[in-house]
Parts: sequence; structure tokens; C-alpha cells
Amino acid sequence: MSALSVDEFEKHLRSLCDRAYERPSSPDNPVMKLMQGELSIEEARQFWGGRWNRVLLLSQYVLPNLIRRCPHHDMRVELWPSVSVEYGGGDLAQSHPVLYRDFLTAIGIPEAECSFTLPADDPAIAREIDRLDGYDWLELLGRFLGRETVGPKVFPMIEEALAKAFGLDEHALAWFRVHGIQDQEDADDVFKVVRRYAITAEAQAKIEQAVQSWFDDSPEYCCAVGSMSYFYAAA
Ligand SMILES: [Fe+2]
Repeated sequence: MSALSVDEFEKHLRSLCDRAYERPSSPDNPVMKLMQGELSIEEARQFWGGRWNRVLLLSQYVLPNLIRRCPHHDMRVELWPSVSVEYGGGDLAQSHPVLYRDFLTAIGIPEAECSFTLPADDPAIAREIDRLDGYDWLELLGRFLGRETVGPKVFPMIEEALAKAFGLDEHALAWFRVHGIQDQEDADDVFKVVRRYAITAEAQAKIEQAVQSWFDDSPEYCCAVGSMSYFYAAA
């Protein structure tokens, strides 16, 4: 199989990203239930609390390994602005794990349950780290790109729906807001890197599969919940 041109591949990848947000949503999707005004606070705690370890894995494992495994110094530099926002650009209070912890405590999860240390003896964490260990830098880049598309696509309406459903204030929702705004720019920066390095058929296939695998791992966000926002707004 021959490689697509850089323009063709970017177009193909952007279309893949758009289509991820057209997939049908399962009826018990907590994000869709939120849009319909049917999500209880207990269900919200269960869903977003259950994603805490994923937030920790991103900052403690995925991003450090993306930088470490990347073979090109200039690309590490190019990725750094998108990566550093996860760490608050050096401001702990603005780092994304802290903002996410603040959201979890605002919906009633005790702070004591939001340890910043990953539970090393948790088999699910060990399995996820094993899986990530099998990824090379292009695959980690693809996973990062998939993740960066979520915020602009669905977080603004989730932020609005959470505020309405649970009376959360601006600070409690900052994690959603910063991703809704910042990640469009970050995704564009990652696309620039993809254009430079995904120039073989093998590299393009790796990136595409990794992007798709991230969408498949996050069906609650990566589906057509976006269409629900119109119903929500009209309600
Ligand atoms: Fe983040």
C-alpha cells in the first residue's frame, strides 16, 4: 500500500475525527443522559470519578513517554506547548489533574479519594501501562491527537449541562472549559507534526489506528452526543 500525500492524509484523518462524533450513542451513555437532564449526581460521580486514573495516566505516563520516545528533538519542541498545558504551564493550580480533582470534589467525591499517586497494585492500571508500553511514539502521538479532539467537540455543551444540572460554578468546570478552548489549537499543532512525520504508509496506518483506538476507548465522549445539545438547548 502506498502512502497518501500529506494533504490527503491530513484530510483523511480530520474526516476520521469528525466521523467519530457522528457514531450512535448507547442509551445508557452518562453524557447523553446528562444532556437529557436525566443524570443523577451519583451517576456523575461514578462516571467522572471512574476516569480519574485515566487523567493520571495521561500526565504520568502517556505524555512523558511521548516526549521520551519521540526520536526528533525539533518535534519534541513543537509538541511541548500542547504537552505543557497539561502541567498548567508550570502553575500547579492550573495543571489539569488539579483542575479535574477540583471538579470531582465539587460533585461530592471526597478529596481523600483523589490521590495523585496511581495505585500500582491495581490490575487494570497495570494492564493499561502494559498496553501503552507496546506503543511507539507515533502511536502515542495518535492517541494524543484523538484525545485532543474531544474538548472542542463536546466539552462546551457538557460544561453547560453540568452547570445547569448540578449548579456547579466556573472553577468547578474549569477542566472542561480549558479543554474546550485550548485543545483545538493543540490538535492543530499535532496535525502539523503528523504532516511532517507520517509520510510512509506504515506510519500513516499506525497513527490512524491509534486515533481510532482512542475513540473506541472513549465511546461516552466520542459519539453523537453532540446532536443532543440541540434538544438540550431547546428544553
Ligand atoms: Fe488535559
